Amino acid sequence: MKIKNICCIGAGYVGGPTMAVIAQKNPGIKVTVVDLNEKRIAAWNDSNLDNLPIYEPGLDKVVGEARGRNLFFSTEVDKAIDEAEMIFISVNTPTKTYGVGKGMAADLKYIELCARQIARVSTNDKIIVEKSTLPVRTAQAIKNILDNTGNDVNFQILSNPEFLAEGTAVEDLMAPDRVLIGGEQTPEGLEAIDALVNVYGSWVARENIITTNLWSSELSKLTANAFLAQRVSSINSLSELCEVTGADVNEVANAIGKDSRIGPKFLKASVGFGGSCFQKDILNLVYIAKSYGLDAVADYWEQVIIMNDHQKHRFAKNMVKTLYNTVSGKKIAFLGWAFKKDTNDTRESAAIYVADILLDEQANIVAYDPKVTAEQMYGDLDYLQTRDSSSNEKGLTVVKNPYEALNDAHAIAVLTEWDEFKGYDWQKIYDNMQKPAFVFDGRSVLDKPALEQIGFQVYVIGQ
Ligand code: NAD
Ligand code: UGA
Repeated sequence: MKIKNICCIGAGYVGGPTMAVIAQKNPGIKVTVVDLNEKRIAAWNDSNLDNLPIYEPGLDKVVGEARGRNLFFSTEVDKAIDEAEMIFISVNTPTKTYGVGKGMAADLKYIELCARQIARVSTNDKIIVEKSTLPVRTAQAIKNILDNTGNDVNFQILSNPEFLAEGTAVEDLMAPDRVLIGGEQTPEGLEAIDALVNVYGSWVARENIITTNLWSSELSKLTANAFLAQRVSSINSLSELCEVTGADVNEVANAIGKDSRIGPKFLKASVGFGGSCFQKDILNLVYIAKSYGLDAVADYWEQVIIMNDHQKHRFAKNMVKTLYNTVSGKKIAFLGWAFKKDTNDTRESAAIYVADILLDEQANIVAYDPKVTAEQMYGDLDYLQTRDSSSNEKGLTVVKNPYEALNDAHAIAVLTEWDEFKGYDWQKIYDNMQKPAFVFDGRSVLDKPALEQIGFQVYVIGQ
């Protein structure tokens, strides 16, 4: 079966870039990305490519090439569903904030709404592709809704989880380590799998497209994120041991990473992992294990989250302790707010939690991030509901020029590994700071010996 018309529900960090690349690589397929959020769709349609709703290196070029040719962004969800033979569901699946499973389980209400809408609108057979990250066996629930509320048309459900990382989304989509497609192992299911294999086959080598049954595919996505986050928590746990023993976590990471069985990637100690997915997906895994009565499995994976929370807390507490046990009224400069470099995404960023602790200690935080807006930073703090908005506004100042944050500061906290921080005039920064001038490098990006030479007192995670 050859696909000519694709619809994607959800124009977010995954739906937008993924569909842009599918459209660029398949000029013969019309790809329509729809969303309820009018502002977001307007930004995807903005003639100035600098105004796309998400920042990803190289994305402007891909969108610029395909948009208007065979890539469209729209709020007309029903129309796009009706026209498509294949529908990707790429909506958000956050952690539940209410009821049973609160704080652990994935909230599938957006998924269910999509399924019901697809069932209502569809008048011909369709392939439904789960692009969102979902608990294992969700396809069964989707199928149930489609088959019981639809217009007697046939639906095939596929699982096609996305493995892109933010900041490198375009690169990851252009040359994925693998594409994973799960489907029912029936003639119709295999035919649907084949149709999606052909879409990716336009640019991904066939041997890098893995096909499995539905449940393996759904569970592989949660497993991949759990393993990745577990590596970060493992190296972060050792960063604390390094600090008390005189070992250097970067040297340890390099030494173990040379073992081909361990490998060098994802061994960078940090102030803690953030991002919209690691925590949410592990909590979900823990919840699923518990719901099957597998308490030992649940406890094992929960430890990854516990260690990550510990790392964020101990970074902030170390700042307070080093600054003579008080940061009250002191100016603390934050370099970085995004959860990693090259993205404007701040979801679950360690910076938010470090700021929250320091604000409790009455610090005056002045933050600079090259891509994150003031509105976003205040929203992130308000979301925690630790204090009211006016207190957050009083405690946090957001600036557009890094030197404004750094001048007169008692201490600097590096919370995101933006490359530009390395190139700053550190002598000038030192000259204009309060003394002793403290730097807390939560990303191990600055040149510690050079900074110490200038006169800074430098703390680097894991050293
Ligand atoms: P997002 O919040 O950026 O985007 C989701 C979009 O879906 C929003 O714009 C929202 O308005 C829209 N939406 C929700 N319900 C809708 C409906 N009924 N009709 C139309 N639009 C609707 O989320 P995201 O970061 O793109 O993540 C989407 C999924 O992909 C999640 O399950 C996530 O776990 C997974 N994922 C994310 C990443 C990542 O890097 N962000 C990577 C891999 C997988
Ligand atoms: C992660 C996965 O890498 C993707 O494969 C997956 O598709 C995605 O989650 C998802 O499902 O959402 P992402 O969160 O965008 O991607 O970014 P990562 O590069 O994985 O970084 C996550 C966090 O871990 C960041 O805060 C980063 O700074 C931190 N990290 C990463 C470390 O502290 N040390 C490392 O060595 C690597």
